[in-house]
Amino acid sequence: MSIEKRRPRLPPRDDLRALEGYHSPQLDVSVCLNTNESPFPPPPEFMDAWLAALREVPLHRYPDRGARTLRTAIGENLGQPPARVFCANGSNEVLQTLLLTYGGPGRKALVFEPTYALHAHIARITGTELVVGTRGDDFTVDADAARALIAQHQPEIVFLCSPNNPTGTVEEPATVEAVLDAAPGLVVVDEAYGEFARVSALALVDDERPLVVVRTYSKVWSLAALRLGFCVTAPWVIAELEKVVLPYHLAVDTQLAGTTALQFQTEMHARVAFLVEERERVLAALRELDRITVFESGSNFLLFRVAPGRERAATDPAHTVWQALVERGVLVRDFSSWPGVEDCLRVTIGTAAENTAFLSALTDVLREAGAS
Ligand SMILES: Cc1ncc(COP(=O)(O)O)c(C=O)c1O
Repeated sequence: MSIEKRRPRLPPRDDLRALEGYHSPQLDVSVCLNTNESPFPPPPEFMDAWLAALREVPLHRYPDRGARTLRTAIGENLGQPPARVFCANGSNEVLQTLLLTYGGPGRKALVFEPTYALHAHIARITGTELVVGTRGDDFTVDADAARALIAQHQPEIVFLCSPNNPTGTVEEPATVEAVLDAAPGLVVVDEAYGEFARVSALALVDDERPLVVVRTYSKVWSLAALRLGFCVTAPWVIAELEKVVLPYHLAVDTQLAGTTALQFQTEMHARVAFLVEERERVLAALRELDRITVFESGSNFLLFRVAPGRERAATDPAHTVWQALVERGVLVRDFSSWPGVEDCLRVTIGTAAENTAFLSALTDVLREAGAS
């Protein structure tokens, strides 16, 4: 054995040893309805305008560190001053920057499970202590229970997610306000799917409140590949985030895509309207299926529970159905072993053809299981 092979491998930080990575299999199937992206690419006119703008950029120079043009454009679009906008590589980098800045050893973050896994995951990576609250049977956050947890633990950061991933639940602004009143630190409302919902916490943002609303270009703007997200919050929060984030983190192509996309509002709204209509069609169809309980959603996905059938692996009915769907070329997200959403699968709303393919594959799977 060579000396090289005998060298002990450096372990990671003690608190990261038990950490698990992000699990969402990327399988090669024809109908991918597992990651909540837009099923539609951006319009060809967007591509032309973006590439033309990119051609004019001096690529040997660093991009604008403050992403000023992009922040101004996003601010104008939302009726917010640019000083309240912070942009990063996807909303995940916004969340990471928030936790690096306001979390960390000796600090706490409160999440309400089941919710977006990255809130807890990034909290752990940044050494932030996690406080875990739970949601009610309808998956909303109960304001009184939230107040009690906040009073007990005094978390520096409270995460809400509306619409919540993976349940699709929309949080009323009254709940956000109740949490804001009780919280001693920041309240982060993750609105990655905000444009699909009827209410938003954006109107509650002002220059004093410690409220952060996080949004992304990955879903409604059809730009998941370019990694762009942002938050809207008080300028004093943004000043701190800017000290922590790496200089020149946001590449010029991403910045340009963000400003260019905003010229295609009509197309974006049409995509959202179509997906909301399709969501309601899929919801109605799922309600007709035996063994399936589907939950209302304000987003571009639906969570549904699978009751046991007569198939052999009846102890894990949702996972069995997930596997059978994969065998038919349809990939959805398997939440069957997640606390709080046991026996559940989540389907992203795709094109009409993809949704129909999913519904017919699921109907077949359930019929075959019933017949076995
Ligand atoms: C609730 C929520 N927040 C944030 C993200 C991250 O999105 P991105 O980093 O692509 O902006 C996702 C992605 O699925 C999400 O579901």
